[in-house]
Amino acid sequence: MPTYSLSLSRKPTQDKKILETFEQNKHKLKDHTKDLKPDAELQTLFADEGQGNAGDFRSQECLELLRQSDIVVTNPPFSLFREYVATLIESQKKFLIISNTNAIPYKEIAKLITLNKLWLGGVLSFAEFKVPSDYEERATRFRIDENGQKWRSFGNICWMTNLEHKRRNELLDTIYTYEKYKDKYPKYDNYNAINVDKVAEIPMDYEGVMGVPITFLGKHNPKQFEVVGILKPQDRVVNGKRIYARILIRKAKTQKE
Ligand SMILES: C[S@@+](CC[C@H](N)C(=O)[O-])C[C@H]1O[C@@H](n2cnc3c(N)ncnc32)[C@H](O)[C@@H]1O
Repeated sequence: MPTYSLSLSRKPTQDKKILETFEQNKHKLKDHTKDLKPDAELQTLFADEGQGNAGDFRSQECLELLRQSDIVVTNPPFSLFREYVATLIESQKKFLIISNTNAIPYKEIAKLITLNKLWLGGVLSFAEFKVPSDYEERATRFRIDENGQKWRSFGNICWMTNLEHKRRNELLDTIYTYEKYKDKYPKYDNYNAINVDKVAEIPMDYEGVMGVPITFLGKHNPKQFEVVGILKPQDRVVNGKRIYARILIRKAKTQKE
């Protein structure tokens, strides 16, 4: 049986030092962790009467399994993503799911982000996964590591979660201020906000609404900035020129003087 696994790390291999430190300190977690054991036999899932929907996340049985769970970790069907996320939110469970970055601007997802009910994990865009040895070699997004293991990668994948994580508590800092570099930040033609082309160029002193690249969400600390919404496609125009998707943010109230 080939083994498949997914690594959402920015690095092709795990840092040896981090793994060693983790092994050395694992005993400190002992009281908080327990080994997961596989079920003695796989559970059979039954369809709702006359529905033929066994295993469907919307079936009564799967909803009951969801009710019994503590944390949901999965790679859901992207074609039903909105409905899947709505079911998770309604369940009020903690979750960690894989998403396509294209789903971030969906109205329903953007709304959950502004409400602080869903956010992105620390890693945005790059995801690499092992593939079996008989997997056909590809010209792009493919590599074989020093142990002969084949890997493929995506450039448009992210985690979506409602679990806290470290990066979400770190402060973003840039060398830019609106005061000094005003000309760099024109307003949108039909929307009252300034446009920022790079996350590293977000002015630290601007009090109004700013449109920033979607990658900002990988660095979002809600104590520093609040997400106001997504700039509508028709408003993504600066001096007559169309620009890429933008998240609308402003300084969080606690950060304002
Ligand atoms: C992105 S794939 C992830 C597969 C698997 N979780 C993994 O990581 O290898 C999404 C999976 O959802 C399954 N799926 C599609 N519609 C579904 C539904 N309504 N309920 C539950 N699963 C569904 C697909 O068959 C597919 O296996």
